[in-house]
Amino acid sequence: MGAIALNAVFASRNPDKARELEQLLPGWQVEPLTGGTFPPETGTSYYENARGKALYGRSLEKRPLWVIGEDSGIEVAALDWGPGVFSARFGGDDPVGRMLAALTGIEGEGRRARYISELVAISPEREELRGSGALLGRIGHEPRGSEGFGYDPIFLPEDEERTVAELGNVWKRSNSHRARAARALLEALAAR
Ligand code: IMP
Repeated sequence: MGAIALNAVFASRNPDKARELEQLLPGWQVEPLTGGTFPPETGTSYYENARGKALYGRSLEKRPLWVIGEDSGIEVAALDWGPGVFSARFGGDDPVGRMLAALTGIEGEGRRARYISELVAISPEREELRGSGALLGRIGHEPRGSEGFGYDPIFLPEDEERTVAELGNVWKRSNSHRARAARALLEALAAR
């Protein structure tokens, strides 16, 4: 895949996500977008929301840099594969507690889950590239581990007995849904 190093602006207020993305896109310099009022996430898909953030960033960014938007969520079998695009709202301040409560009495297949991440990058010439990534797993019964964020203390990836919060940020850097989406984005960039 050749090392394509670019500078990019990440249309997110979250500097941690920007740092994470920089580590996922080797050679890239990713800076978070500052200022402005982000549009509400009203899309019905991760792609629409990610593209909405990227387009918003594109409208503000006057320098010849790529702009990247990202949207992600968790999907659980017993919740009809929701909350999906509503994951941030579903979880509120206590994503772990809310999810464990929603799955009370559910065992086995119903606890199957997946994380999804969608990245959209828009060039200064308005060329658009995207990359999607998923991480399959299941929801555990009690929180364990201290790294990561959101649902990580109760998310056990396939073939793992440890949660993502126990596996940690270094593990996430190679294996997370966002890492997979970043690799797909790099492949799309290399293939054009
Ligand atoms: P958004 O992409 O900012 O809309 O947030 C999506 C929501 O999905 C977050 O608030 C988290 O609750 C959840 N989520 C997305 N990615 C992860 C992850 O890597 N670990 C834990 N939770 C995640």
